[in-house]
Amino acid sequence: MTGIREPKRVFIKTYGCQMNVYDSDRMADSLAVEGYQQTDRVEDADLVLLNTCHIREKAAEKVYSELGRVRLLKEEAARAGRRVVVGVAGCVAQAEGSEIARRAPVVDLVVGPQSYQHLPALLRDVERGGRPVETEFAIAEKFERLPAAAAARTRSRGVTAFLTIQEGCDKFCTFCVVPYTRGAEVSRPVSRIVEEAQRLAEAGVREVTLLGQNVNAWHGLGDDGSEWGLGRLLFRLAEIPGLDRLRYTTSHPRDMDDALIAAHRDLPALMPYLHLPVQSGSDRILAAMNRRHRADDYFRLVDRIRDIRPDIALSSDFIVGFPGETDADFEATMHLVERVGYCAAYSFKYSARPGTPAAGLTDFVADPIASERLSGLQALILDQQTAFNRSKVGTSMDVLFERAGRQPGQIMGRSPYLQAVQLDGDASWIGKIGRVSIASLGSNSLFGERIEALARHRPSVSLEVTT
Ligand code: SAH
Ligand code: SF4
Ligand code: F3S
Repeated sequence: MTGIREPKRVFIKTYGCQMNVYDSDRMADSLAVEGYQQTDRVEDADLVLLNTCHIREKAAEKVYSELGRVRLLKEEAARAGRRVVVGVAGCVAQAEGSEIARRAPVVDLVVGPQSYQHLPALLRDVERGGRPVETEFAIAEKFERLPAAAAARTRSRGVTAFLTIQEGCDKFCTFCVVPYTRGAEVSRPVSRIVEEAQRLAEAGVREVTLLGQNVNAWHGLGDDGSEWGLGRLLFRLAEIPGLDRLRYTTSHPRDMDDALIAAHRDLPALMPYLHLPVQSGSDRILAAMNRRHRADDYFRLVDRIRDIRPDIALSSDFIVGFPGETDADFEATMHLVERVGYCAAYSFKYSARPGTPAAGLTDFVADPIASERLSGLQALILDQQTAFNRSKVGTSMDVLFERAGRQPGQIMGRSPYLQAVQLDGDASWIGKIGRVSIASLGSNSLFGERIEALARHRPSVSLEVTT
């Protein structure tokens, strides 16, 4: 390979969900061991990795336009005598495999999400003139081999971190590619999760978000010899000194068991925020999506969670324009949103994905109708989000200070409800939790001021109205 520079530099661009964010860090970890330093300037990179998402057509197509730009960079570097290696990772890599290399000659290697432990070997293969495509499913092996490298880099992490505890999906919603791109559900063992959480806490992380495509389907053998669910695991993680805040995402409504719901009452470190995707409010559409619950089951679940934790904030995901969706089905979705009341939600126009059962349905919803429904739904969600944020003005909340704010002398943190909070403060507060009185609502954040001495480890959160 020409242009041997030390250290070599890797640029990683991440698309899609938090799981990809976590995976990108793991790839950087394993490459750090190989002497690669991460750069945020693509033009400096010796290795460009795109960690891709296949969930909707638009997400998948972005990769090809990005590869077009990368090709120009690669050609320019070649003219200067420097080799740039280009890799496609993530869910598009898994779904399309060698098709990517065929469609985009700029690509040197393709690696699916369960094969990142092979990255160093694949790079050596490229060096020898190969063009490897690795899309083997070996989730357990991925987790066994990747975290070991992570120890080297945990120091540089911030105050919050993701920790993948479960991967894959056995639910097979008819619209969704995840069961095909990530494979079957696999839970990581308790001991590995605890070890990794401990390492994060030692490196200064105060808030950990546990990740999984069906995170609440996680289960494992606990250190007491019994089978644990997510609720029990959360209690164990809360014992780790320094881990003040725990979150988890994404949950499936069918897997919210009693122990997990009870943890929202009994575990102060568990933040009162729950992302609980429902997709639709129509029983007919829910059945066609194979969600395996009705709208009414969701309402009952939400009521139970709110009974136990009245201040919990809920968010969700919605799809509009699923094949066969009528005006009445869409009205049922609007009704569900009105009845539940969300602090935030993501909504998408249905996108037919190759290989999924729904892709064979033909009773399409015309695009202008889907667009109109999407904007109606988004307007309602935005109203609810604004009302939720406004309801916190005049209250005081515990805020975890994460980083310097937009203006000098300002600091930015997060409320228990994941709201961004800006206030005057000092960089020395970063990593601490302080009580903040919320004075006003801006376009993207709340503004407030600190009203109490800082606690380093304050596991509790309570909402009290001060006006
Ligand atoms: N495991 C999560 C969802 C992961 S995908 C769950 O079960 O809720 C994130 C979101 O993308 C989904 O909740 C859904 O709203 C959306 N999505 C998935 N496939 C889609 C498709 N084919 N078209 C449009 N939106 C889709
Ligand atoms: Fe996709 Fe459904 Fe699995 Fe979520 S539960 S990842 S939407 S198949
Ligand atoms: Fe996208 Fe794969 Fe995540 S398809 S949403 S990156 S699991």
